[in-house]
Amino acid sequence: MMGDVNPDFIQPSDERPSPSISLEDQQIPVVDISSSLSNELTIREIKEACQKWGFFQVIGHGVSLEKRHKVELAARQFFALPPEEKNKVCRDECNPLGYYDSEHTKNVRDWKQIFDFTVLDPTLVPASHLPQDEEITELRNQWPLYPSHFRVACEEYTQEMVELSFKLLELIALSLGLSADRLSGYFKDHASFVRINYYPSCPFPHLALGVGRHKDSGALTILAQDDVGGLEVKRKMDGEWIPVKPIPDAYIINVGDVIQVWSNDRYESVEHRVKVNPVKERLSIPFFFNPSYYVMVKPLDELLDKEENAKYKEYNYGKFYSRRRLSDFKKLSAENIQIHHFRILE
Ligand code: OGA
Ligand code: NI
Repeated sequence: MMGDVNPDFIQPSDERPSPSISLEDQQIPVVDISSSLSNELTIREIKEACQKWGFFQVIGHGVSLEKRHKVELAARQFFALPPEEKNKVCRDECNPLGYYDSEHTKNVRDWKQIFDFTVLDPTLVPASHLPQDEEITELRNQWPLYPSHFRVACEEYTQEMVELSFKLLELIALSLGLSADRLSGYFKDHASFVRINYYPSCPFPHLALGVGRHKDSGALTILAQDDVGGLEVKRKMDGEWIPVKPIPDAYIINVGDVIQVWSNDRYESVEHRVKVNPVKERLSIPFFFNPSYYVMVKPLDELLDKEENAKYKEYNYGKFYSRRRLSDFKKLSAENIQIHHFRILE
């Protein structure tokens, strides 16, 4: 089933530290957020990380480890079920939530299985990506019967993620010189979701990737990874792929396209990808913190002045996301809709 060599491998990752790059630039920064909002140093660290990398790890985040471990265990039990059982909650063209296995589609590039669920149930989204179609539809989660504690474990963990997201959103707003609550209103009916990624070990690691290079289209992503590793981030200063070292119980944060636009490119959404492992399976759980579907995304007025013009045209978050999802689902060969399509050319 494996076809052509994955083109992403034309760009090899070099795991040896480059001698011309300082030690602190060889890994994404680690920020301790335990002393919270009033701490100027934390805010400065976040600002520098967002400017330089678009990525950082957080420790001192306050998320319940018990809840995190419960959801990880439940997820491992779910993915260990026979395919017939998992396919009872398989996603389809009508419902994008639930289970999905890349092996059962023509998508041989991404070597993984996933389980998706939204935070708000139902979550409102546009019925189609077509601009003239104003119909709104409700997405509903599908939960497996086994393991029996799966749903509760997921829902309890999600509450922790929502709390951490709003805290990070405040820190990021402050780091842009805005008031702490400046961005919160965009998340009233947020279209956030959790994705549980299960990457089986892959006997031909040179032919596949866990996830091909991409940018995240929402506001923030908060990712829990296990100790296997495989996530690589494209370093802004030289375009090298840098592996993200697993730190037990930390979270990896990256800013998505929405923050890139709000900040008028101060904080860019950075490409990343996942390598497969020839012997070990890997579990990762990203939380995609997305605005409400009706939010119109554009550079924030406060960050613009006579010298600085908006670099993006306004776009509707829900429509943008629906188009992305549709092209992902159909694996259209045409280029996915991307944020640079809204860039104002000078
Ligand atoms: C993603 C993603 C990274 C990982 O699902 O968008 O980038 O480490 N995942 O699984
Ligand atoms: Ni991603």
